[in-house]
Amino acid sequence: MKVVGICGSPRRGGNTEYATQYTLDRIGEKGIETELIRLCEKNVHYCTACYNCVQQKRCTINDDLEEIFLKIEAADGLIMASPVYHASVTPLIKSLMDRLGFSGRWRDNPMQATDTAYKFKGTPFSGKVGAPITVARRAGTTSAFSDLLLWYTVNDFIVVGSSYWSMLLAGKGGAINAAEDAEGLANLDHLAENMANLIIKLTKAK
Ligand SMILES: Cc1cc2nc3c(=O)[nH]c(=O)nc-3n(C[C@H](O)[C@H](O)[C@H](O)COP(=O)(O)O)c2cc1C
Repeated sequence: MKVVGICGSPRRGGNTEYATQYTLDRIGEKGIETELIRLCEKNVHYCTACYNCVQQKRCTINDDLEEIFLKIEAADGLIMASPVYHASVTPLIKSLMDRLGFSGRWRDNPMQATDTAYKFKGTPFSGKVGAPITVARRAGTTSAFSDLLLWYTVNDFIVVGSSYWSMLLAGKGGAINAAEDAEGLANLDHLAENMANLIIKLTKAK
């Protein structure tokens, strides 16, 4: 059992990384392997809308996407975490979401030329457990959270909730102070518990 946590902040060691690693650590305490991926250390270009993935069944841009894709494909759960930038996610995580989602969709499904229903064969992420985390100084956490939620739910993940939306308030004046948001961290504790329990149940049911 493994959970991959993706930190979509351009800032290494910042609040979002803290939130992601904190949640992974709680999941790890339940006996599940975890791995943190810092997008600021990766090269993931934005989607160029070449549509090559429809025929070739993979994204043909030669960068770090494939490495991340394979790690997620091999995992049971995924945490996507983003700082809030103008009430939305960062360009780093948006580029990743676009390319994972679009190229993943066509891996096992043909794109129809006309608007007809197709028999959906799933995505490489089908049945994996997903959770969003957002971090903001003050506002926009819920709209950025929705961006992540919409991505998970169109890509056939099973999304887990918590005692509140899984988000932290931190970063006034650029501060790295996520550890001070006790209420937010308690919500991450519960998110981790839910995520670990669900993965354990799903693994037993396989
Ligand atoms: C370009 C930019 C846009 C931001 N937009 C928002 C915003 O819309 N709402 C908010 O509350 N904080 C905003 N912030 C503050 C960050 O969300 C906050 O400092 C967060 O803790 C940063 O996470 P990090 O430490 O992982 O980089 C913004 C920061 C930057 C650099």
